[in-house]
Amino acid sequence: MKRFLQILFIALFLSVSFTACETNRGEIIPYVRVDIYEHISSPPVVFLGIGESAIVPGGYQGIIIFRDSDVSYQAYDRTCTLWPEHTAPVKRDTTFEGVFQCPECNSQYLLINEGQVIKGPASYPLARYNAVVNQGILHIFN
Ligand code: FES
Repeated sequence: MKRFLQILFIALFLSVSFTACETNRGEIIPYVRVDIYEHISSPPVVFLGIGESAIVPGGYQGIIIFRDSDVSYQAYDRTCTLWPEHTAPVKRDTTFEGVFQCPECNSQYLLINEGQVIKGPASYPLARYNAVVNQGILHIFN
């Protein structure tokens, strides 16, 4: 019985450890406090149609504001999740609106799908920030 408990404990420890490693890869982007206010009736937000995006300073390597509906927005960090320590922020794909691509590894991220990877080698989505509209102000924060 004691041996069984030892094996069970080791198995639980390993599963927790590997789970942490698996899910941690996309979350090692260094923390940067984000607390940005943008008027939705002023540039760059006022120019965004549904499905369009703009880039503003902030976050770790810049922030993408993506308009996903008439009244709501999403915000993502521009850091590629394959190698967050690299300093080549993702760029807007010239052929598909709402797709951002890493200039180094060519990983592609689809904003309308919560920044998920649509082409690797990256496997974790872009880091996302909160984006809330209140009384004509878009508040982006973490
Ligand atoms: S940032 Fe260097 S591989 Fe994507």
